[in-house]
Parts: sequence; C-alpha cells; structure tokens
Amino acid sequence: MHILKQARAILDAHRHQPGALLPILHAIQDRLGYIPPETVPLIADALQQTRAEVHGVISFYHHFRTTPPGSHVVQLCRAEACQAMGGRALEQHVRQRLAVDYHQTTTDREITLEPVYCLGNCACAPSIRVDDSIHGRMTPEKFDRLAEQLTT
Ligand code: FES
Repeated sequence: MHILKQARAILDAHRHQPGALLPILHAIQDRLGYIPPETVPLIADALQQTRAEVHGVISFYHHFRTTPPGSHVVQLCRAEACQAMGGRALEQHVRQRLAVDYHQTTTDREITLEPVYCLGNCACAPSIRVDDSIHGRMTPEKFDRLAEQLTT
C-alpha cells in the first residue's frame, strides 16, 4: 500500500484519541520502519498542529527515524549499568566494525545503528537489541559473530 494511504489509515484510527500525536508516530514507524517526511503535513493537518510542532516532536525523541532503516536495526545500550560493564569499549568496537555512527546505516543497507537508554536487561550488561532480540553480556567478539550472521 502507498505510504500516504497507510498513513491516512493510521491517522483515521488514532486522530480522535487524547494526545494522539505520539501513538500516531509510533504506529507509522511500526508500520513503515520510519516517519516519512511526506507524512508530516498529513499528521499536522489531521491534528490541527503546525508542521513545525510535529517535526519538533519527531526530532525530540531519539526513537523516531526520518529515513528508512537497514534490513536490521542494532540498538546499543548506553545507560549506566551497561556503561559500567564495558559498554563504552563495546560501543567503540561496534561503530568501528560497522563503520557507522549512531543513526546511520551501513553502506550495504544491512544494519542501522541506534543508541538506546536501557533495554531492561541490566543484570546481563552490556546489552544490545538486534531487531526484536535482546542479547546480554555482549563482547566485541560476540558482536562480530552476530554481525557476520546478519550480513550473510
Ligand atoms: Fe543497559 Fe539496562 S542499562 S540494559
């Protein structure tokens, strides 16, 4: 289904609920993988807000993407428990291994790297999420094996 048609269906389903903007943005990203810029005017009109207001909310939350992600999304936890258990070194390794920074996608469009602030898996820090799976006690070596599996 065309992007705008899908966005309209989501708007119709959520526009009348109180505080509809965030549920709408979540629903669009869940459906399309990101918030396409061409949906912003539609959202603004439906909620009688300005485009700048909608854009402001999208850019405020790290969670929302404005470009399509790669085939896989790797979220690396940057919160305290993970940092205390080697998260910083892991972070450096992952960025080097993938040759991307946060919010970027590898040149083969396979992996998008995103920061996240606690995955609720602190007891097994450091943690990452790959798509829908959380992986604890992550090490650079384990990450390399995972990345290999994702790209083959
Ligand atoms: Fe990383 Fe909680 S701090 S999972």
